[in-house]
Amino acid sequence: MTKKVLITRMINKECIAKLEKDFEVVVWPEYEIPMPREKFLEEVKDAHAVMTMLSEQVDEEVLSLAENLHVISNLAVGYDNIDLETAKRKNIVVTNTPEVLTETTAELAFTMMLMSARRVIEANKELTDGSWTGWSPYHMAGTDVYGKTVGIFGMGAIGAAFARRLNGFDCKVLYHNRSESDYAKNLNADLVSFDELLNQSDFVLCAAPLTSETKHTFDKTAFEKMKNTAHFINIGRGGHVVENDLKNAVETGEIAAAALDVFDKEPIGSDHPFVGLKNMTLLPHIGSASVDTRDKMMELCINNILQVLNGGKPFTPVE
Ligand code: DGY
Repeated sequence: MTKKVLITRMINKECIAKLEKDFEVVVWPEYEIPMPREKFLEEVKDAHAVMTMLSEQVDEEVLSLAENLHVISNLAVGYDNIDLETAKRKNIVVTNTPEVLTETTAELAFTMMLMSARRVIEANKELTDGSWTGWSPYHMAGTDVYGKTVGIFGMGAIGAAFARRLNGFDCKVLYHNRSESDYAKNLNADLVSFDELLNQSDFVLCAAPLTSETKHTFDKTAFEKMKNTAHFINIGRGGHVVENDLKNAVETGEIAAAALDVFDKEPIGSDHPFVGLKNMTLLPHIGSASVDTRDKMMELCINNILQVLNGGKPFTPVE
């Protein structure tokens, strides 16, 4: 019997062709619209492999239906959308896409920090609204990144790539992990407590994976410990943040500004409480979104599937 591979979104056609040589491939034919849950539940039943996006919750319901499933290949480095425990219990291999997206995601984090510091969104809005009245000494004056102290919560590959960029800006780099990070070895970065990270940093980047331990790390108490002039940048997951506490923190001046690429429930609409706040830089989860990187992520997903279905070891298992 030919094995079936389910792909929950339209991807690069060359990747699909690579699978079609040996397998039956079912692809949800949309780039923008997620596969409806009902359809996913129906198609996963007889699938041997599934390539998922962050938009699919691969939970107990899905896994109880998927009787033939050998591998879930997630198109992301994060895998908080997958019930790992149940997958493990059912001997289903889970894979992700680390490394190939590191530099691209760090680049976006750096962009967000500069945008927030220099009030780029606010300034652009003023111009396009037609409300720019001319040059004045403190007009849209922001803050420098050069020479500042930057704290990284979650010094993994992406945090380290971000830290390397900070060296070029003569920044002092702090980080907080449970213990010394191998990624920090050749970096000029100091491991500090979470409280030290909060109260010493001018910019705080959240680049950690979302787990039960890191969920809601950034709440009222955390924002109160940050400098009133500090900027908070999140490229991790929306679940790291208590959104209402962040809204209050930027509205009351507890912190200066926030730049977010991720939200608790995505996508957010224009009615989200963050939208319209002038000290918020908001992006629609585009951390790893360069064409080259997305192509590499897709290829890695497909290669992981091929490895497992052909009886080999996946290249990037989640362990
Ligand atoms: C990831 O890889 O986890 C990103 O958030 C997806 O772009």
